[in-house]
Amino acid sequence: KNLVVLISGSGTNLQAIIEAIEANRINGRISLVISNKADAYGLTRAEQHGIATRYIDHKAFDDREAYDAKLKEVIDDAAPDFIVLAGYMRIMTPSLVEHFSGKMVNIHPSLLPKYKGLHTHQRAIDAGDTEHGLSVHFVTPELDGGPVIIQSKVPVFTDDDATILAERVQTQERQIYPLVVSWLCDGRLVMRDNRAVMDNDVL
Ligand code: GRF
Repeated sequence: KNLVVLISGSGTNLQAIIEAIEANRINGRISLVISNKADAYGLTRAEQHGIATRYIDHKAFDDREAYDAKLKEVIDDAAPDFIVLAGYMRIMTPSLVEHFSGKMVNIHPSLLPKYKGLHTHQRAIDAGDTEHGLSVHFVTPELDGGPVIIQSKVPVFTDDDATILAERVQTQERQIYPLVVSWLCDGRLVMRDNRAVMDNDVL
């Protein structure tokens, strides 16, 4: 299967997916990595593995519609089976999301529906939560609101700060996200009636 990965930052999730592909744990290849940030280290990671990259500066477009229209064109040119958001930090227009309905997944660092949006680790600490984690979900127009595919929990310890808690969550992310991408590529996982359906059972 053909994958396009969107990033904005360091790309540790991208790295985990690249390594899973190289280890034949994912039945697919990444044809293109797109970043809206020129200095995203994930672009370097992709290049180191011979993967094509594209930087599209959102600031060069008048508005979100114009930027997303360009993004859609670039993604469509790559003709991916699936689009993997891996630390892509831009909200997408509903028309872009709907164009790729059922084909786009995201990883979010909280136990959704808790803590949509930003600063999830600090918010979990501030709330006194004893557990936190990550969610992988299909992308729908509602921000961080699409059907959850899988979640992974980590403990929150009383002396945690946001940095150490983020590291604990991200260690899990690197295990879980390649697994989900492998399920997609194997045709084991689909979105149906706004639910994540795996091996014909609703998760
Ligand atoms: C991850 O924590 C992800 O959950 C969030 O952004 C971070 C991206 O990290 N959406 P990386 O770029 O994959 O290293």
